[in-house]
Amino acid sequence: MIELKAGMLAEWRKTNHPLAVFFLEDAGPTGAALLSTALRKALTARAQEEHFKGKAGECLPVQIHEEGRDRRFFLVGLGKKKALKSESLRKAGGSLYAFAKKRCDSLFALPSGEVQPLAEGCLLGSYRFEEYRKPDEEAKLSQVFFLGDSKPKLEAALLRARIFAESVCLVRDLVNRGPSDKPPEALGRIAQGLSGSGVSVRLIDRETAERLGMGSYLSVARGSSMPPCFVHLTYKPKGAKKKLAVVGKGITFDSGGLSLKPPQSMEDMKGDMAGAATVLAVFKALPRLKPKVEVHGVCAFAYNMPGPDATKPGDIAKAMNGKTIEILNTDAEGRLVLADALTFAARQGVDSILELSTLTGAALTALGGMVTAAMTNNAVLLRRLLSAAETAGEKIWELPLVPEYEERIKGGISDLRNISKVRGEAGTIIGGLFLKEFVEDKPFVHLDFAGPAWTNSGNEYCPAGGTGALVRTLLHYIDEL
Ligand code: BES
Ligand code: MN
Ligand code: ZN
Repeated sequence: MIELKAGMLAEWRKTNHPLAVFFLEDAGPTGAALLSTALRKALTARAQEEHFKGKAGECLPVQIHEEGRDRRFFLVGLGKKKALKSESLRKAGGSLYAFAKKRCDSLFALPSGEVQPLAEGCLLGSYRFEEYRKPDEEAKLSQVFFLGDSKPKLEAALLRARIFAESVCLVRDLVNRGPSDKPPEALGRIAQGLSGSGVSVRLIDRETAERLGMGSYLSVARGSSMPPCFVHLTYKPKGAKKKLAVVGKGITFDSGGLSLKPPQSMEDMKGDMAGAATVLAVFKALPRLKPKVEVHGVCAFAYNMPGPDATKPGDIAKAMNGKTIEILNTDAEGRLVLADALTFAARQGVDSILELSTLTGAALTALGGMVTAAMTNNAVLLRRLLSAAETAGEKIWELPLVPEYEERIKGGISDLRNISKVRGEAGTIIGGLFLKEFVEDKPFVHLDFAGPAWTNSGNEYCPAGGTGALVRTLLHYIDEL
């Protein structure tokens, strides 16, 4: 990841580095109050000559003779003023990095409005997954200086951008890693590495999970020779009044189990631990953000594999809360590991639970790759989360937990069944209804981000692969509590 620093205009004048200036389609250069009128006019004139409109994502290099020498500028489009959101700045930051990375090694930027999203865009755009290959030698840009009139303010915004982006990129790294290279115990060790500065970590192995009665969770892990690992992280600052749990699905590979997936559906299933990785990412940030909130993180890591002892369709598992579940499809495994993770979380004395999972292909079908499906038993909690998502530039849409559908997961010989009696209908809602049975009536939001957790196309500030979706939303949420 590149370096971001606060700089002053006088410092830029002493260098030969280019300066990035952001343009609105209908209002010209922004943030340009720092520049001289002559320079502002020259930039506007050059933009017109070159037919640079300032459309979102548009970038143009120009040279201008200024104070006796030729200076390089990168013009970056922000789109129309009315459509300008913090997300436009994040995208512009990503576009700027992509444009500049082979053109210079250092760059100055004149931020327009909020600094944090713009800086996040630069940092997230500079992410490249390098666990299995050499760094890109052509990308030489290594530092960006953000100009402004208050260095301390700039530095605070840049630090927050770095904390947020490093957490997002932790998720990207873990999701992108090959499934055999991230067995549950390895991810447990990564969790352990996050302990210190107010964070403590407990790893729960198979035997302990058995003693705790986590039969639903363990039913998933049975098919793999690699043992499961259940992780409980705690962040306990002094004087915290609120207590929150964040729970994540951590299937380190979802083959479907004996209800085996077809090959194509398995291609991206190394990403089925994105929810739990997001929980880890939150705990990476907490000691640096220092919110006055007690946070419990729960990651249910396991492989979902077929194997000689794998759960067979028709098997009955008993969850930690005593409910029995007939497992009719071993590919509906996320809800099984989350059942016990949610009960465990609810029993930590928290006020509310946020749970993240790549739970259903139906969520991807319904809302596509850009929108997370949310389901809740508490409208106020969801409203606050939606406001944090707005700040983070992430899209979340509510689906109803239709009470009439509850009957569809009632068991014949057990309390519950893990798939609906009605095929091909409301798959995402059914997942949410199932999970609701395990939260001991605590306020909770279930976030099914099967779509947003992964991208095949990439965007302005994210290459194809794991996205780190919802990390920023959660951090803003916790920060605003
Ligand atoms: N991990 C999958 C859901 C998924 C699908 C995530 C596509 C990302 C992209 C989940 O475990 C699963 O297999 N769900 C089943 C549920 C069904 C068996 C009720 C599904 O969606 O088909
Ligand atoms: Mn599955
Ligand atoms: Zn899964």
